[in-house]
Amino acid sequence: MAAKSLWYCTSCGNESPKWMGRCPACGEWNTMVEAPVEKKSSGAKGAARQTVTERKPVMLKEIDRSKETRVSLGMPEVDRLLGGGIVPGSLVLIGGEPGIGKSTLSLQIPLNSGLKTLYVTGEESDRQVKMRAERLSPGGPEEDGSNTLIFCETQIESVIREATEIMPDLMIVDSVQTMFTESVESTPGSVSQIKEVAAMLLRFAKQTGVPVILIGHITKDGYIAGPKILEHIVDVVLQFEGENRGSYRILRSIKNRFGSTSEIAVFEMTGTGLREIANPSEMLIPMHEAGLSGAAICAMLDGTRPLLFEVQALVSTAVYGTAQRSATGFDTRRLNMLLAVLEKRAGFHLGAKDVFLNMAGGLKVTDPAADLAVVAAVLSSNFDYSLPSDCCFAAEVGLSGEIRPVGQSDRRIGEAARLGFKKIFVSSYTPLPDNLPKAIKVVKVPDVPALVKSLFKNA
Ligand code: TYD
Ligand code: MG
Repeated sequence: MAAKSLWYCTSCGNESPKWMGRCPACGEWNTMVEAPVEKKSSGAKGAARQTVTERKPVMLKEIDRSKETRVSLGMPEVDRLLGGGIVPGSLVLIGGEPGIGKSTLSLQIPLNSGLKTLYVTGEESDRQVKMRAERLSPGGPEEDGSNTLIFCETQIESVIREATEIMPDLMIVDSVQTMFTESVESTPGSVSQIKEVAAMLLRFAKQTGVPVILIGHITKDGYIAGPKILEHIVDVVLQFEGENRGSYRILRSIKNRFGSTSEIAVFEMTGTGLREIANPSEMLIPMHEAGLSGAAICAMLDGTRPLLFEVQALVSTAVYGTAQRSATGFDTRRLNMLLAVLEKRAGFHLGAKDVFLNMAGGLKVTDPAADLAVVAAVLSSNFDYSLPSDCCFAAEVGLSGEIRPVGQSDRRIGEAARLGFKKIFVSSYTPLPDNLPKAIKVVKVPDVPALVKSLFKNA
């Protein structure tokens, strides 16, 4: 039979026997890429090639859960993100744009944890890795207390052979796009290579119990084949985000078979590697003295952790015919909806104004609790009237201008009090426990007009 091709969607990983302009699974346009089907000559090869194992089914009640051990990676924030350390035999994908700090993080892990690590790199020479390690070593360049083996190799069969021989505590593979297997006839980085390489690493991890961290590149638009397709295969997906210009990096948990998702860890890129920021609120709240208009603090929940950050808005008269609306880190459609609510329910004519919105620190915010801070920031900029620097906001805004409660208000209030805020605006319908901190005043507002009255009566 002639060589056949399969088509994969780079957005969702959907497979199709023919090219399509639009992926039927996720509805994205122009995302299908071609990948030759691997050689199947010697029977079922590739992922399906499993010899019969000795394993037997076990009764659910007889499984001893306490046996699940976690291995610390020597970086408390990364451990927390993983759900308390890495699970033996798991495959963890760390994705991110080039230059964001994936290689730096993956080298800091063996240096900090002291785990016996096989560090496989297909991207750099051993001398380059050494140079980076000297920058990163916690005890200075002379003090390499780590237990790390560097292996410059791109053929996955040799990598797995070495790993099986060495039996490290941890294996790191940088990056999946540079690895290749002989069993697939296409170039490294192609869809079928990436899938097969990941499947082989997964098999290795599950059979030996060695945890594997796999690095994957994604471009700005997430287009390059790879990480999206891998998400189905691996156990955990962590995504590195952040402005390349800024020094803050956010590692976000997108998928986690052993812990919760939608948690983040925040780092600062310094001259000696990534520094963990255990309390991100402190970096996300204002760097300026009080008195600037257009800024409001939101008490958001990131996964399970409360996080306070600054919402910045700029409202100005449109120079060109149509007003511009742009939001960084916030859904533009949601911004438009909030502006429409302000127009219709509170009588503000923002139709002829440009509105720019920014979430501090390159944060991407999806928590509906940000609505109230967005509304407050927009109005503050519109009136050119600054909000008191010791007040913050946590509530959703509904289409009729009503202010709606959000989950876990007590934790948001607690964090705000801990950071020294004196006032927090929440919905009138928020259920509140009795044991709230005394240091903070909880202001309940029912709707947008009431908020305007209470914030801007002097404006
Ligand atoms: P790197 O980890 O190589 O990124 P990736 O593997 O995701 O492509 O990070 C590269 C960037 O980080 C580069 O711009 C230099 C910067 N950097 C520091 O600022 N401090 C450091 O200690 C290190 C090692 C890198
Ligand atoms: Mg790299």
